[in-house]
Amino acid sequence: MRTETPLPSAQQLYVDWEGAHWSAHDIDLSRDRADMAALGDSERLLLYFALSSLMVAEERISTQFVGLVLAQDDEEDGSFLCTQLVDEVRHMQFYARFQSEAVADPATIGAHVARSRAVLEAPFKLLFDEALVQAHARLCREPSNRDAKVDFVTIYHLVLEGTLGVTTSHFLLGFLRSRGVLPGFVAGYSKIAADEGRHITYGTQFLRQAVAADPGMADVVRGRLQQLMPAITETLSPPDSVIAVLGAKPGALVDHGLGALRRRLEMIGVEV
Ligand SMILES: [Fe+2]
Ligand SMILES: [Fe+2]
Repeated sequence: MRTETPLPSAQQLYVDWEGAHWSAHDIDLSRDRADMAALGDSERLLLYFALSSLMVAEERISTQFVGLVLAQDDEEDGSFLCTQLVDEVRHMQFYARFQSEAVADPATIGAHVARSRAVLEAPFKLLFDEALVQAHARLCREPSNRDAKVDFVTIYHLVLEGTLGVTTSHFLLGFLRSRGVLPGFVAGYSKIAADEGRHITYGTQFLRQAVAADPGMADVVRGRLQQLMPAITETLSPPDSVIAVLGAKPGALVDHGLGALRRRLEMIGVEV
C-alpha cells in the first residue's frame, strides 16, 4: 500500500537547487590536513577507505548519467536532471580537492583508490557496476523506453543513492561529528548529502508517477531489486573492525540502508 507523503515535482526540485548553491572550491579545508595527520591508525585507514570508495563511486556515476538527461520526459524533468549532472561533477571536484589539499601524502590515497577499484571488481560490487553501465547504455539507445528509464532510476536513485549512499553519509558524518574532526570535509560532505537528498526525492517521485501510470512498472523495480539484493546486503556488511571504529552495532548499516529502501518503496507504491 502506497503512503501518500506529498513529494515535490521536478520543477520544484529545480527551484530548490537554485537556492542551494555551494562551491566545492570555497569550503575551508585549512584545519583538515592537521586533523588527518593526528588521527589514530585505524581511524585514518577507515577514512582512506571511505574517501577512496566515494571518489571511485562518484567518478563512476557521474560518467553514467547523461543518458538520463537525454531520456527527459519534458522541459521540467530535463531542467532538474541537468542540475543533478552538475551536482555529481561538483561532488567529484570536492573529493579531488580534499585529496590534494588535506591528505598529507596523496600517493597514499592513490594506492587506496587503486585498491577501491580492485574492490569494485569484487563479484558483488561488479554487479552494481555492470547493472549501472548496461542500464545506462540501454537508456542511451532507447531514451523513450519506459522500462529502461524505470530500471536506470531504480539502480541509480533508489539503490546507489537512496540505500547505499545515505547509509555511508549517515555513519561517516556521525563518526566525524562525534569526534569533532575534519571540519572542512564534514562541511563539504554535508552539502553533498543535501544534494543527494534532492536526487533521491526526484527518483522517488519519478518512480511513484511511473508506477501509478503503469502498474507493470512495479515489476521492473522489483526485478532489479531482487537481482541486486545480495550485493546490497554484502556492501552494507563491512568487517566488524570497521563497524567498531564507526562506533556502530553489528548489523546497524544493513538496518539503516534497508529501512531507508523500505520507506522509499512505500512512497513509490511497490510491495516487495
Ligand atoms: Fe553525488
Ligand atoms: Fe547524486
